[in-house]
Amino acid sequence: MKARFLMVFVILALLMAGCGAGETPTGGGAAAPTNTTAAGGGAAEPTAQPGGSGLSGEISIGAVWSLSGAAAIYGPSQKNAAELAVEEINNSGMLGDAKIRLITEDDRSTKEGAIAAFEKLINQDQVVAILGPTLSNSAKAADPIAQEKGIVVLGVSNTASGITEIGNFIFRDSLPESDVIPNTIRVTKEALGYQKVAVMYGEDDAFTKSGYDVFKQALEDNGIEILTTETFAKGDVDFSAQLTKIKGLNPDAIVVSALAEEAANIMVQARQLGIPETVRFIGGNGFNSPKLAQIAGPAAEGAISGAAWFIGNDTPGNKAFVEAYRAKYGSDPDQFAAQAYAGVYILANAIKNAGSKDPQAIRDAMAQIKDLPTVLGTFSFNENRDPVHEPVVQVVRNGKFEVFTGNE
Ligand code: ALA
Repeated sequence: MKARFLMVFVILALLMAGCGAGETPTGGGAAAPTNTTAAGGGAAEPTAQPGGSGLSGEISIGAVWSLSGAAAIYGPSQKNAAELAVEEINNSGMLGDAKIRLITEDDRSTKEGAIAAFEKLINQDQVVAILGPTLSNSAKAADPIAQEKGIVVLGVSNTASGITEIGNFIFRDSLPESDVIPNTIRVTKEALGYQKVAVMYGEDDAFTKSGYDVFKQALEDNGIEILTTETFAKGDVDFSAQLTKIKGLNPDAIVVSALAEEAANIMVQARQLGIPETVRFIGGNGFNSPKLAQIAGPAAEGAISGAAWFIGNDTPGNKAFVEAYRAKYGSDPDQFAAQAYAGVYILANAIKNAGSKDPQAIRDAMAQIKDLPTVLGTFSFNENRDPVHEPVVQVVRNGKFEVFTGNE
């Protein structure tokens, strides 16, 4: 009797485990999607075979970029790269008879813009997945809409904490600050030997605040003294009060968690105030646009940032990507472009493996992406749907990013 009871229990346990196969925890207590089969595309294909052979027609994918407003420094290169990847995928026949239709929206770098874009893409365009939005700040407001509707979101530049915790339909291929900054501080402290720093961060943005939290912890962990912590708000243009105070404290380096435009203005004003070039700027993902050096000019020389990709990376397809981007757009791709380009390929592979336009099947195939060759490196998601690959440290030299070697 006891043995029979045990057997029934084991069978029940196995059945329950089977139900959850391929699932990842929803995390953060996010609501389970209410519509996981019919939403988006409206064309679930239960008979489709894996490998893309069952796919046909158009597959609508949304892309939400900051093409205007405070983060318009990043959005255009994301848009360019995503369009390049879609063109390549459609020309290659990777998805069998199906073609991706990329529907791009500008969120104007605002939460409201991202929410409106997500609602249009999901309800009107019936997309099967969304790339973006550019800013973590907007992702925190808009991603819950897609989670609720059971539509996959692939963030390709969101680096704040707490993004994928929104729910089990939310993925990102952008390394979070928490995976990048500790490495940046360790490597640069070892090479430059700084002991005391001033910190500046934007206090009204999810990414800049999150970057600050990670910097603070990393500085403490490495025994570096924080002389002062100065804040600013999005859109500020005058940083002289904070920088005058910082100059008086004579720091070895200035750590800045900011989007590129504010970071560039801080650099220019710091040098104008007479903070010497030997006092290096150290930043996070916000620095990783060529616009930083274009706006700041010589003031950006020597600036250091943690990044997820470097133009000279020896990663699968990177050389071809850089050449194709240059040929199409007449400029170098940046880290934001690389992550958007890789993101389209990751999503297309998941759709191919799902063999279906069904958003739930695409979600499950996304969760299974493992060791996929991408320009970011051999790519996998971890159990929290965050990316797993090595970060890099970059430095601005003659207006361009180079890998930080410590010899500069
Ligand atoms: N990495 C920036 C963010 O997450 C763009 O908002």
